[in-house]
Amino acid sequence: MSDTARPFPSGFLFGAATAAYQIEGAAFEDGRTASIWDTFSREPGAVINADNGDVACDHYHRFRDDVALMKDLGLDTYRFSVSWARVRPDGGAVNQKGLDFYKRLVDELHGAGILPWLTLYHWDLPQALQDRGGWTVRETSDLFTEYALSVHDALGDRVQNWTTLNEPWCSSFLSYTGGIHAPGHFSITEGVLAAHHLLLGHGQVVRELRARDASLDLGITLNLTVADPVDPSDAGDLDAARRIDGQFNRWFLDPIFRGQYPADIVADIRAVDAGAIDALDAATLPGDLETIAQPLQALGVNYYHGEFVGAAPDPHPPVPGDAPTDRATGSPWPAGVDIHWHERGLPRTNMGWEVQPEGLTRLLQRVWTEYAQPAGTVLYVTENGAAYDDELVVEDGVGRVHDTERVAFLRGHLGAIADAAESGVDVRGYFYWSLLDNFEWAWGYAKRFGIVRVDYDTQERTAKDSALEYRRVIAARAIDVPSALLAPR
Ligand code: NOJ
Repeated sequence: MSDTARPFPSGFLFGAATAAYQIEGAAFEDGRTASIWDTFSREPGAVINADNGDVACDHYHRFRDDVALMKDLGLDTYRFSVSWARVRPDGGAVNQKGLDFYKRLVDELHGAGILPWLTLYHWDLPQALQDRGGWTVRETSDLFTEYALSVHDALGDRVQNWTTLNEPWCSSFLSYTGGIHAPGHFSITEGVLAAHHLLLGHGQVVRELRARDASLDLGITLNLTVADPVDPSDAGDLDAARRIDGQFNRWFLDPIFRGQYPADIVADIRAVDAGAIDALDAATLPGDLETIAQPLQALGVNYYHGEFVGAAPDPHPPVPGDAPTDRATGSPWPAGVDIHWHERGLPRTNMGWEVQPEGLTRLLQRVWTEYAQPAGTVLYVTENGAAYDDELVVEDGVGRVHDTERVAFLRGHLGAIADAAESGVDVRGYFYWSLLDNFEWAWGYAKRFGIVRVDYDTQERTAKDSALEYRRVIAARAIDVPSALLAPR
């Protein structure tokens, strides 16, 4: 270890993450039926190049090779999600063949000495349930609980770490209000109802799993951000930052950790659409917020980039926004009127997202101090990663991807976590997104996030330089460059 090496806390877990719809393929095999992503990806203009997850990385058939790859990289843990439509096709009766796939996967992971980190819901709602209202109706929370219990029936003896939901902001506001993700709706009312029923389902599952087995490690993964005002002395800019923080972070953190929705954002949304808040009030039955606020062992933080916002438009607008195709999309921020994103000169990934590792340090410190520590919950970075234009080159007959930007991204963010840990934050793991290049939702296969390249014609996997670098860091269990050297502050 070099003089400058900064060790990670003992027991720190190094992992990588994926999700069922993005990698599995085998979309209609062994009894699986359609999810909302099978439907949405077939809507004209919904996904770049009309891509879908029918084959994806064919992980359903190649999981043994993929686990071998993980072992070769030295991963301690692997975060994956279970497909509801595989386990309970159409949201109905249990499909043993679907469960058997996850048993095989988990057994393979154990055989390789890799800790399985299971997510129950990563956005692929059975289409049949969407046809009955999806997350806008309470029945879906109850069916989610039944589904979760059937997964636990099958895997409870071999999975210790359970995550209820991945990024509920995306499966509510981005999906039901912004229309960018399945089911592609444009309603503020649907967005707030979906968020409520997702959170309710989360709380119900935690309560039921805890009642079955008090020794499980239970948690949720949120996509959190750090919102900076363009001018911290400008009241309008500060207000823009408050509203972004409120809609991304506090709309989910407050009910989970404090049993209440943030009053300021409730008021902001009411000012735009009073009917939406009336609908939320009507849908919130006595006891719901107590159910949502179950104690948790783990809070998963997904961090990609911060937000640099103000009240007035940027005279030098940054790269165009988030809509992937020409299809009309809405704003996923109901209280986002007059929020403008500004350019601050940070490097950007292929998604147009800023590279800002120090934002992760601040985010972890804030979430730890304000929410996790008081509740006795520990933190994990359950996603962080970058898409770049990777190029496959053949050197001495061997395929290589010299993804130097991703190597810097990875090192910068690991350094940022080391900074947070040194400042007293209890953060116990990191999952790079993603193990493999995969189906990047509305961007289809056009964006490559993997540390392992996937050739979608041959399904050949090639470890990129970032994977080799990650393997070195994992072996050393230390990072030898401080994040300050890699990121502007
Ligand atoms: C968050 C999501 O959980 C994941 O599915 C997605 O691919 C990455 N971010 C990158 O956008």
